[in-house]
Amino acid sequence: MQRETSHQPQGRADEGQVILPGDVGWTGLMTAHMRAIESARQDRLFDDPLATAVVDLARHAIRTDPDGALPTGPKDDQGELTETWYMLSTFLGVRTRYYDSRVTAACAVGIRQLVVLAAGLDARAYRLELPADTTVYEVDTEPVLRFKESVLTRTRLEPTARRRTVVADLRGPWEAALTGVGFDPALPTMWLVEGLFMYLSGPQSERLLDGLTRLSAPGSRLALEYYESIPRPEDVSTVDAAEEAVIARILSFFQDGPPTPPDRWLPSHGWRPEVTTLAAEITARGRVIPEMFRKGRPQEVNLWLAHGTLG
Ligand SMILES: C[S@@+](CC[C@H](N)C(=O)[O-])C[C@H]1O[C@@H](n2cnc3c(N)ncnc32)[C@H](O)[C@@H]1O
Repeated sequence: MQRETSHQPQGRADEGQVILPGDVGWTGLMTAHMRAIESARQDRLFDDPLATAVVDLARHAIRTDPDGALPTGPKDDQGELTETWYMLSTFLGVRTRYYDSRVTAACAVGIRQLVVLAAGLDARAYRLELPADTTVYEVDTEPVLRFKESVLTRTRLEPTARRRTVVADLRGPWEAALTGVGFDPALPTMWLVEGLFMYLSGPQSERLLDGLTRLSAPGSRLALEYYESIPRPEDVSTVDAAEEAVIARILSFFQDGPPTPPDRWLPSHGWRPEVTTLAAEITARGRVIPEMFRKGRPQEVNLWLAHGTLG
């Protein structure tokens, strides 16, 4: 049975207590939750010990956002994942593996600077066995990075590369915060923008891509995803009110995102793109495409995965 999660104002938390990030920071918790599900599969695409620790700790942490708990056990009466949880865990598991492969490919050509924008509970600095001379910069908001440190302190995981955290709101100027902790624009960089652009407006997306392009030496790479259309609550086959509430909350953060698909958007900023779709990647991993991403639905939800090289 799930233990009661406390809910009290942030200011009253004692030192040492763990406070869950609310608002859009909660989506990072959900992503970690889905990575924990993937990690528990026999045919897992990766093993993320941080994600598993996040789920354990989140159950006992302080919640300042009344809607910010992690949902309880995502299984049906037969112990199987319901369609909603199958969709979320497959989507995020396969997406994670795609970005992992981009990082591995960048390391293979000698890139040693990795910037994870909107890092959330990203554990690549811990689980990918990066070359030791790599520096990983993780950028997110203060509540998210504080929660992450709480989890890391308790797990005693050790990064395989140098790791720097950067508190910044990526809707505004963030570049100085990154260069201020040692990021070197003269070195080629691998940029990960995983699970962020859909939470930004068109102009904010443009500004972010402009900013990271200005900081990118030739040969830099980036990876991102793009929703062709914003999913609607009715695109997800929920089985009860709790699932409906989770989906509604996730979708409530969606904005317009980039103005055009990555095959047009990236070249307009000087990047050479390669694109695929989430559905194609799911099929390539031997998994069944969740209903939401199947072709031929009234509103097909097509999610692109893209990477690009500068110059
Ligand atoms: C869906 S999670 C993805 C986290 C991580 N990239 C992953 O895949 O595990 C979205 C993340 O974006 C962060 N985020 C959203 N808007 C942001 C902003 N304006 N500035 C900084 N971080 C932001 C949230 O705090 C959250 O950690």
